[in-house]
Amino acid sequence: KNLKQHTTPLTGKKVVVTAGGTRERIDPVRFITNDSSGKMGYAIAEEMQDKGADVTLISAPTKLEAPTGVNLVPVLTTEDLAEAVTKFFKQADILVMAAAVADFKPLNSADQKIKKSADNDQMTLQLTKTVDILKQVAKIKQPNQITVGFAAETQNLLDNAQQKLVGKQLDLLIANDVSKPGVGFNGDTNQVTILQPGQAPIKTKLADKHIIAKQVVDQISQLVQKEG
Ligand code: CTP
Ligand code: CA
Repeated sequence: KNLKQHTTPLTGKKVVVTAGGTRERIDPVRFITNDSSGKMGYAIAEEMQDKGADVTLISAPTKLEAPTGVNLVPVLTTEDLAEAVTKFFKQADILVMAAAVADFKPLNSADQKIKKSADNDQMTLQLTKTVDILKQVAKIKQPNQITVGFAAETQNLLDNAQQKLVGKQLDLLIANDVSKPGVGFNGDTNQVTILQPGQAPIKTKLADKHIIAKQVVDQISQLVQKEG
């Protein structure tokens, strides 16, 4: 791997990729997370690496092995992820936020295992919003830095994705309709719509996540070339 001799627009570029689903503790034996497998993010990290980029993969827990040669930074919570992204983004040319970030975390995480009580059939878990990492990144983003987000939607894909593209000041947004079979979370395949400011959306076919990763990285590569 990475023995490719010829240069590409991504050769030597410092790329930060995030992957996996963040974990928010409820108590010592329980946590909140989501269905993300990390496969899409890992495939993008691998493809970036193949194109000669210097890749840092900030990963929430997954069952995957990091591609050889990437700098793996393991994280658990959204707060850990936010801290690592902010740190590595400062030196980065490109950020790809493929991580499925928990939107809420328990307001209080218990030090001891929460016991069920005999006199109550219901229990309420109070949650509080986590930081929006991409919105935070938008505030420190320099004109020469490229940021790429993902959007997981179950309805109004294009409208919702467009709002995220603008709201998070992204250069590229990869939208997944996760309600469709074979798309998005957990599987080996994906089908995405790639949005860019002022350009017509590009819809890919349903394909293996490695093929989708190539298409995404190709679009990023074209952006890098444009920015010269
Ligand atoms: N994201 C982030 N910080 C968060 C939540 C999401 O940086 N706290 C990033 C994700 O990594 C992804 C993009 O924002 O690249 C969109 O994530 P998504 O969950 O689709 O959108 P949200 O903005 O969280 O909105 P919602 O879940 O309500 O649709
Ligand atoms: Ca979300």
